[in-house]
Amino acid sequence: MSDRRLRALRDRVRSFPDFPQPGVLFRDISPLLKDPVAFRTLIDLLEDHVRASFPKIDFIVGLDSRGFLIGTPLAQRLGIGFVPVRKKGKLPGATESISYSLEYGRAELEIQSDAVEAGQKVVIVDDLLATGGTMRAACELLKRLKAEVLECLVIIELTALKGSEKLNSIPFYSLLQYE
Ligand code: PRP
Ligand code: ADE
Ligand code: MG
Repeated sequence: MSDRRLRALRDRVRSFPDFPQPGVLFRDISPLLKDPVAFRTLIDLLEDHVRASFPKIDFIVGLDSRGFLIGTPLAQRLGIGFVPVRKKGKLPGATESISYSLEYGRAELEIQSDAVEAGQKVVIVDDLLATGGTMRAACELLKRLKAEVLECLVIIELTALKGSEKLNSIPFYSLLQYE
C-alpha cells in the first residue's frame, strides 16, 4: 500500500489529550473528512484493500456513528448495500441488542433482526479500534444473525490497547496504527 497516500491520511488525524475524559488520547479524523482529496484517498485505499481481499461481499456493515462516515461511501464504491449497526433505541422493528464497554464508557448496540440473512458475507467497518469492545460487540450481533464476517476493517488501530486480540479468529485490518 502506498506510503505517500497513507502519510497523507496520517497528516490529517489530530490528537487531543484527555478527551473525552482524563487519560484518553483522542484521535480525531475530522480534518481527514474535511479535506475532499484526503477523504477520496481514504475510500480509494479501503476499496483497493477490500477488492483485493474478497471476491464476493453481500454488505458493508457500519457502526454508529463514525463508522457510517466511512462505511456508506465504501459500500457505494463497491456497488453493494450498507447495513447500519446503531446505538440503542434508534432502529425500528425486531432487533438484536448487546451491551459492551469501550475505552471511555459503556453503551449498547443494535441491529435489525432481518438486516442480514444466514450465510451472507459482510465486512464490518468503523473509524477506529481502541479496546475492541465496540467491534467485538458488533461481531457478536452478526454472529447471532448467522452472517459470515469476512473482516473487521478500520482506519485507525490503537495498538497499545490490543483490541484486535478481542476479535478472536475474525480477520482484522487497519490502515493506520498508533501506539
Ligand atoms: C468510538 C469509535 C469506535 C469506538 C472504539 O465510538 O468510533 O466506534 O469508540 O472504541 P473501543 O475499541 O474501545 O470499543 P464512540 O462510541 O465514541 O461513538 P461515535 O462513533 O458515535 O463517535
Ligand atoms: N474511541 C475509543 N477510543 C478512542 C480514541 N482514543 N480516539 C478516538 N476515538 C476513540
Ligand atoms: Mg464509534
